[in-house]
Amino acid sequence: MTSTTTAPTASVPLAPGALPLLGHALPLLRDPLAFIMSMSGYRTMVRVRLGPSSAVMVCDPALTRQVFLNDRVFDKGGPIYDRIREVIGDGLSTCSYTLHRRQRRLCQPSFHPARLAGYGEVFARASQRKASSWTDGDVLDVTQEMMTLTTRATMETMFSGALPADTLRQALADTATIVSAFFRRMVTPALLRRLPTRQKRRYDQARSRLAATIEQILADRRANPGDHADLLSALIGAVDEESEGGQKQLSDSELADEALTFFLGGMETTAITLAWALHLLSTHPDVQHRMQAETDEVLAGEPLTAAHLPSLHLAGRVLTETLRLYPPAWMMTRTVREDAELGGVRLKSGSTLVLSPYLLHHRPDLYADPDRFDPDRWRDAAPDRAGYLPFGAGPRKCIGDQFALAEATLALTAIVARWELTPVGDQPFRPKVETSLSSRGLNLRITERRRDAAAPGAEPGTASPRPADAAPQPVTGTCPVNHKE
Ligand code: HEM
Repeated sequence: MTSTTTAPTASVPLAPGALPLLGHALPLLRDPLAFIMSMSGYRTMVRVRLGPSSAVMVCDPALTRQVFLNDRVFDKGGPIYDRIREVIGDGLSTCSYTLHRRQRRLCQPSFHPARLAGYGEVFARASQRKASSWTDGDVLDVTQEMMTLTTRATMETMFSGALPADTLRQALADTATIVSAFFRRMVTPALLRRLPTRQKRRYDQARSRLAATIEQILADRRANPGDHADLLSALIGAVDEESEGGQKQLSDSELADEALTFFLGGMETTAITLAWALHLLSTHPDVQHRMQAETDEVLAGEPLTAAHLPSLHLAGRVLTETLRLYPPAWMMTRTVREDAELGGVRLKSGSTLVLSPYLLHHRPDLYADPDRFDPDRWRDAAPDRAGYLPFGAGPRKCIGDQFALAEATLALTAIVARWELTPVGDQPFRPKVETSLSSRGLNLRITERRRDAAAPGAEPGTASPRPADAAPQPVTGTCPVNHKE
């Protein structure tokens, strides 16, 4: 419904610096975060130009939430999702409102807490294997290490098996090529996107190779059906009882899209969250030592398992704060499906909206000293949910949030339990801004921890170890934010 007292979209101020044809593509490509943060002076909305087309960027937390909640009117779409759709088709994360509810009902059982308990054990084992594969004094390419960890863990939880080493390496390289191309392709006008450049050829090859790998995995599963207790079995077995007359199960092509969606959506975001958390711990040794103390107390010499998750409080706060400072999905887009009103402004059907958790997470009116890494800001206070959106909100909220938090908490714990992390060089490390806030190029030095001395900064008694005879807990992330809507 459009009210008569609303103002036209043209009344929303246009961000300075737009060029004909390119719009704001240059500042967005040159320094996207600086460009986004330059919007923080606008309290409600500002217009930006992505190529020749215009978009409205929503700067206010309550309006952002309004957009997330009303996915019928503010539907998935816009330049980010148009590019992602080129790779994963109409999977759960890219499909429109009309297809979404059925797909969500079919995918949700794969993330049921009962299944997460099994996945948690895979994460704990994979994390410990990874942490044991390093040598004292190593300088790690942290992003690469975390990508191999989350890819292996994702492969095992999704497809209950490992890929041959060279296929896995190729899948990692293809994923990196695709993910880093998304953002460039999003801000490049369509005409230039179609030019047969070397980058475009690499992108096309990576897309088809990754799709072929997933196809092969699905073909192997068809040849060897049954419940493998993995995500793929849950997807294959899912039945949508509410689908009257329609298809009650996922078709083969839907299965391929969902498998690729979970693979791409899950492993890169979790890997870079972990890489940023390790970076922050290396630059904040006081927090690192407190985490080591908590880890020592909770594990008490036992191997790490998913049952330790509910006691890893500081690890949870570190991840909450990491996701505030470096939300992988730093920017999202939406398409307005019918003429609508938002914050007193009339939006025409077909307009594009831009939402930015990064902008909200760094607003000084929402977070005191917003650039400071301070996990303890989450100790007592539940965050204002409208101003903390690393997983989005509403019906399109991340389906893998608890999966990711459990995986990241266990990985962080396994690493910190054994290694001391220190930065390499004295230059501040800045994100490479792509579709996500990439930590590509981050190196850290690891040294084996000395166990004979208490970790400096230890807070004895702050952790609550699980009694030896306690029943295993359902796996949930330890993040104090209630990520459930
Ligand atoms: C730290 C890790 C992760 C972060 C920060 C993250 C972030 C997000 C965000 C912000 C959205 C909403 C996008 C929007 O509204 O436009 C989303 C959706 C989604 N995520 Fe995640 N995600 C993470 C991990 C995962 C994992 C592990 C999986 C799967 C295994 C996953 C699968 C999905 C899917 C399928 C959607 C679409 C949900 C829907 O539209 O119903 N994500 N994620």
